[in-house]
Amino acid sequence: MDQADQLRKLVNKQKKVRKVSRVITVTSGKGGVGKSTLTVNLAIQMSRMGKRVIILDADFGLANIEVMLGIRPTYNLADLMFRGRDLKEIITEGPEGIGFISGGSGIQELSRLTRDQVIYLVQKLYELDELADIILVDTGAGIADSVLEFVSASNEVLIVATPEPTSITDAYALLKTLNRKSDYARESTSIKMVANRINDEEEGLTLHSKLGVVVEKFLNIKIEYLGGIHQDVNCQKAIMRQEPVTIGYPTSSTSREINAIAAKLLDIPIEQKEGKGIAQLFNRWMKNIYKKK
Ligand SMILES: Nc1ncnc2c1ncn2[C@@H]1O[C@H](COP(=O)(O)OP(=O)(O)OP(=O)(O)O)[C@@H](O)[C@H]1O
Ligand SMILES: [Mg+2]
Repeated sequence: MDQADQLRKLVNKQKKVRKVSRVITVTSGKGGVGKSTLTVNLAIQMSRMGKRVIILDADFGLANIEVMLGIRPTYNLADLMFRGRDLKEIITEGPEGIGFISGGSGIQELSRLTRDQVIYLVQKLYELDELADIILVDTGAGIADSVLEFVSASNEVLIVATPEPTSITDAYALLKTLNRKSDYARESTSIKMVANRINDEEEGLTLHSKLGVVVEKFLNIKIEYLGGIHQDVNCQKAIMRQEPVTIGYPTSSTSREINAIAAKLLDIPIEQKEGKGIAQLFNRWMKNIYKKK
C-alpha cells in the first residue's frame, strides 16, 4: 500500500467515525464556463441559509476568488503546504460570513501539487468540521492532474456546462478520464450538473440530457441536474465591481437561480430558503405587531 492509499484509507475512516464537513468540488471540462462565479455565489447563498461555508480556491496560482471578492488575503495555500501554517490560519474572512482559502497568485509550486499533496489537502478539508458545514472547492478547468485528483478525492462533484458546443464534449472527456482513474470511487461519488449561461430552461434540460445519456451509456455514471442559470449581464457587471452578483444584484435572475441551486443542494424546501433564523423570526414578529394594531 503506497502513501496515497494509506491517506485515503485514513480519510475514509475519519468520514465514518465522526462528523465531517461536506466537500463539494466545482469543476468543468471547458474553461470560462462560470465555475468561480457559481462557487462564490453558492457560498453566499448557503451562508444566508445558515450554513458555515468555506471556499478553497484550487485553481492554483490564479487568485480567482480573491479577485472576484476584491479581498487581499494575508496567507494562501502555499503557507499551508510549504511554510508550516495551519489550515485555520490561512482562512480569510469573506463577505456575509463566508471564509475562503486563497490558491495564491503566481506561485509555481502550487500549480504542480502531487497526488499525495492533494489527498493530504482534501483530508485537511474534511477536518474543518468545527468551522464549516460545507467546503466548496473551485477548481481550474479540464483534465489537469490536480483537478482530477480533487474530483476523485471528493464525494460530491458539481460540473458546470454551458450551451457552447465544446462544453459538453469537454465535460464528457473529463468524466471519461475520471472514470479511468484507479482511485475514483464511483459508488461513493455523486455527480451533479449546473447549466450556465442558458437562454431558456429548455436549453439547460437539453444540455443535461445530452451529457446524461452518454455518460450513463458509456461510463455508467448518473448525473443529477441541479438547475440552470440564465445568461445575465449582471454577472459581468459584478466581476467589474469585484462584488459577487448575489450581493450587488440580489434580485437578478442569477441570484435567484443560484439560490434555488443552493436550496436543492442543501435539501431545503425553496419556500423556506430566504430569511431563515433570526431574520425570519423578526419578520414574523413585526408582521404580528402590525396585524394587532
Ligand atoms: N450566467 C452568466 N451570464 C453572463 N456571464 C456570465 C455568467 N456566468 C459567468 N459569466 C461570466 O463568464 C466569465 C467567466 O466566469 P468564471 O470566471 O466564473 O468562469 P470559470 O469557469 O471559473 O473560468 P476559469 O475556467 O477561467 O476558472 C466571467 O466574466 C463571468 O462574469
Ligand atoms: Mg475560475
